[in-house]
Amino acid sequence: MDSSRTRMLAQAVYVLLVITCVAEGTEPRTILVGDSQGWRAGTNYTQWAIQNSPFHINDTLVFKYPPPGNSTVTQSVYLLPNLWSYITCEFRGAKVLGNASEGHDEGFKVELNELKSYYFASAEGNSYDCLAGLTKFVAHPSTP
Ligand SMILES: *[C@@H]1O[C@H](CO)[C@@H](O)[C@H](O)[C@H]1NC(C)=O
Ligand SMILES: *[C@@H]1O[C@H](CO)[C@@H](O)[C@H](O)[C@H]1NC(C)=O
Ligand SMILES: *[C@@H]1O[C@H](CO)[C@@H](O)[C@H](O)[C@H]1NC(C)=O
Ligand SMILES: *[C@@H]1O[C@H](CO)[C@@H](O)[C@H](O)[C@H]1NC(C)=O
Repeated sequence: MDSSRTRMLAQAVYVLLVITCVAEGTEPRTILVGDSQGWRAGTNYTQWAIQNSPFHINDTLVFKYPPPGNSTVTQSVYLLPNLWSYITCEFRGAKVLGNASEGHDEGFKVELNELKSYYFASAEGNSYDCLAGLTKFVAHPSTP
């Protein structure tokens, strides 16, 4: 095979790869929150959320954290009702998505099946992390 044919073949393979990636981009993703670190105390998840944006409708977020024990800080995940409660860490109207013992092993899943902002935060340590802007993030899925 001469070099120009090799180059064309390489380009064709590249274009096919790009098309495959674009097609896959419209499929719902299953995303582990915090990647291999999981859901941890004192961590800035805003950076993680930016890196994993845009979220799409029907994407699934997986939250994982160790069960309560002596060596780990207890963890939980709440869904706050609006931006104000998210900023002020007012958990009174919040919904528990996962309590302290529900994040181990495979963790638990949250499907982003509504076109709205999802305000996630940990309520542990008297909301200390939340008030510091840590262990919380917003996901706003868009249409594919
Ligand atoms: C999301 O999932 C629901 C229920 O499975 C389905 O009816 C809907 O068409 C999906 N939406 C998109 C944009 O894929
Ligand atoms: C926690 O520590 C106490 C006292 O050191 C010990 O008795 C207990 O078994 C530990 N519990 C766990 C879950 O490790
Ligand atoms: C967490 O939720 C599970 C399932 O709803 C329940 O069985 C368990 O008692 C709860 N644990 C705590 C620590 O609230
Ligand atoms: C978290 O990261 C974001 C994005 O980099 C940054 O804007 C924000 O100030 C950080 N928050 C804290 C509490 O460090």
